[in-house]
Amino acid sequence: MNDSRKKIVAGNWKMNLSLQEAQSLTAELLGMIQDEKNNDSHVYLFPPFVYINNIYRQIQNSTINVGAQNCADQISGAYTGETSVTMLNSVGASAVLIGHSERRTYYHESNQSCANKINLALQQGIIPFYCIGETLNERNSNQQFNIIEKQLMEGIFHLGAEEFSKCVIAYEPVWAIGTGLTASPDQAQEMHAFIRKLITEKYDATTANNCSILYGGSCNDQNAKELFSLPDVDGGLIGGASLKSRSFMNIIKAFQ
Ligand code: 13P
Repeated sequence: MNDSRKKIVAGNWKMNLSLQEAQSLTAELLGMIQDEKNNDSHVYLFPPFVYINNIYRQIQNSTINVGAQNCADQISGAYTGETSVTMLNSVGASAVLIGHSERRTYYHESNQSCANKINLALQQGIIPFYCIGETLNERNSNQQFNIIEKQLMEGIFHLGAEEFSKCVIAYEPVWAIGTGLTASPDQAQEMHAFIRKLITEKYDATTANNCSILYGGSCNDQNAKELFSLPDVDGGLIGGASLKSRSFMNIIKAFQ
């Protein structure tokens, strides 16, 4: 990674943990992070919607941030079951995951709806973490670069440079999520460098150089150090390994 960029470690809890388990995990992390005075990585927790405010109250006055795993693509009104960015703002969320592959696959989210969500989040001052990644079929047919380019073009490249620079990109190859298959360091670096090249072409070198691009997909405390040492990897979006305080803390400490 490059020192001019923010180092970020984010835990996506997905649909796991009871409220009590979520609060215990947060309390353990708070204790461990307080003991790590020299760590300059930015830590985000993405609990299920219903716990956001509880976790927010716990992490207030700490260096940990809390965000949501999704948001509505409309601002308000008759959208039963949806949660708007204004609601997220009012309960303390400062970031939101947009376009996670599980939402794209199971809930048919399109790049266009991601673009709407990104606009709404930015209007509320919430940081969008835009998630992109190819499936195994797409990689096996050598489509991975086209897919990533399309997800960027249609989902986020409508933004001007100033707005884009408020966003975080998370590259999560779908075949690596929850499978134990991690992208090799070469595969991760190749794709992260490709994403940064596209950002340079769309905006400029400074915007690209300042953009944090996270890796996600079976990242754990055994492989984080190697992944985070790659020149274009600026941290991780962690699923399973974020559900245990010790393994998540080891990942937070994995920056060299
Ligand atoms: P795993 O770390 O469980 O593979 O999940 C990655 C992910 O989807 C984070 O958003």
